[in-house]
Amino acid sequence: MTWRHPGLLLHAKTEAIRLGSGHLTIPLPQCFFDIVEVENSHEGLALTPVVRKFVCRGNLTKNIHGAAESPCRKRLARAPFDVKQEQREYPMAADFPASHRFCIAPMMDWTDRHCRVFHRQLTKRALLYTEMVTADAVIHGDRARLLGFSEAEHPIALQLGGSDPAKLTAAARIGAELGYDEINLNVGCPSDRVQEGRFGACLMAEPELVATCVAAMRESQPAPVTVKCRIGIDDQDAEDDLRRFIDVVASAGCKTFIVHARKAWLKGLSPKENREVPPLDYERVYRLKAARPELEIVINGGIETVYDASTHLDHVDGVMLGRAAYQNPAILTEVDRVIFGDASDEPTRASALRAMLPYIETHLGRGGRLSNITRHVLGLYHGQPRGRAFRRHLSEGATQLAANADVLRAAIDLVETRSGQDRQSFAA
Ligand SMILES: Cc1cc2nc3c(=O)[nH]c(=O)nc-3n(C[C@H](O)[C@H](O)[C@H](O)COP(=O)(O)O)c2cc1C
Repeated sequence: MTWRHPGLLLHAKTEAIRLGSGHLTIPLPQCFFDIVEVENSHEGLALTPVVRKFVCRGNLTKNIHGAAESPCRKRLARAPFDVKQEQREYPMAADFPASHRFCIAPMMDWTDRHCRVFHRQLTKRALLYTEMVTADAVIHGDRARLLGFSEAEHPIALQLGGSDPAKLTAAARIGAELGYDEINLNVGCPSDRVQEGRFGACLMAEPELVATCVAAMRESQPAPVTVKCRIGIDDQDAEDDLRRFIDVVASAGCKTFIVHARKAWLKGLSPKENREVPPLDYERVYRLKAARPELEIVINGGIETVYDASTHLDHVDGVMLGRAAYQNPAILTEVDRVIFGDASDEPTRASALRAMLPYIETHLGRGGRLSNITRHVLGLYHGQPRGRAFRRHLSEGATQLAANADVLRAAIDLVETRSGQDRQSFAA
C-alpha cells in the first residue's frame, strides 16, 4: 500500500462520515480511517487532496459502499469511497507513515498508556512512543498489560528491545497486528541489564546485526521499522563510526533514525548519567542529515522548548523530546501550532485535564487507581501560580484508596478558579 500524499495524516481521525447519497451522518466515535489512495484535484484555484479510497479501522458494524465525504484534517475530502470493515487488516505501510517532525520519546516507567493519552490531549499531532518492551516480553508476556493502548493515542510507535532477529520479527508482527503505526528498535539504552541481554546502545558496535534485525522485522509485517540510537559509544564515537552504522542499517531498509545527540559510556556511567554527562553534539546530527539527505533524521537530547525544537527543524527532519515533555507537559500545547502550523483548537491546561475525565472514569470503573493516571499530570502547572498546590493536592489525594475523579476536579478548581484560589490561600 502506498500513500500518494504523504502530507495527509495517515490516521484521518474523524467523528463522523457523511454519506453523499441522502447525507446520512453516522457517528463513529472510535473510528480511524487509513487512507489508501489520495489524488490531488483542482477545485477552482485550490489544489485539494481528494481521498479516493480508505479503510476504516474501528467500530463499523457493516460494510458501506457509496459516495461519502469525510472531514480530513480540516480539509474536506470528497470522493466515492469504498469503506469496508477490515479492522487491522490494513496496518499502515508507508515510507514515512506518521510525521516525525515532533516526537515524544520512549521513557521507561513514564510514557505508559495513561501518560500517552494525557499527552494526546495536549497535542494531536506529535508522534508518541511506548516505553521499551523487550521482544521476549512481547512474545511471552501479558500483552494486554504491556502493549494495550487506546485508539486515541495514534499515531503511536512501539519501541522494542532485543537483538535476536527471529524474536524481533515475531514481536514486530504482534505489534503491527495490534495496530501500532511504527516499530522502533532501541539501539540507545546503555543500562547494564540491557547490555547483558546484548541489546540497546551496545548494538551500535554491531551494525550488521542491527541490519539483519531490521531487515527481518520489515519483511514480517507492513509497519515501518525505525531505529533510535546514539551518536556513538565508548571509544567508537568518531563521525565515521556513526555514518558507517547508519549506512549499514539503512541498507537493510531503515529510512528513519532518531539520534540522541550524545554518546553513551557503556561502563562507568548510570543510564541517568548517560543522559547528562556526555556532551551534546547537535552539529554532528546536522552533518549526518546533510550527508544523507535521503534519510529521515530526527534529533534528540536536551531540547527544552517547542521553539528550540523548531530551530532544529532548520537542519533535520524531526525532533524528539523526552524529559522536558514529561516534566513540563504544558509545552506540548504549542506543538500543533508552532511545529505543524495548526492553530485550531489549541488546548489549555484545564481543557486537557477535563478531556481526561471520561478516560479516568473508565479506568476507575475497571478497578484502576486514580494515581496511575494523575502521576503523569503533576508537572502540568509547573512554574504557574498555585502550581505547587495543584501538585500537592493531586499527589496526596490521588493515592487514597477511594480516590475518584473529584480529586482531579478539585485540583483543577484550585488553579483555575478564583474561589479555589481563595480557598487555598485561606487554608495556607
Ligand atoms: C525515565 C526515562 C526513561 C527512559 N527510557 C527509555 C526507553 O525505554 N527507551 C529509549 O530509547 N530511551 C529511553 N530514555 C531516553 C529518552 O528516550 C531520551 O533519549 C533521553 O531522555 C534524551 O532526551 P531528552 O533530553 O529530551 O530527555 C529514557 C529517559 C528517561 C528520562
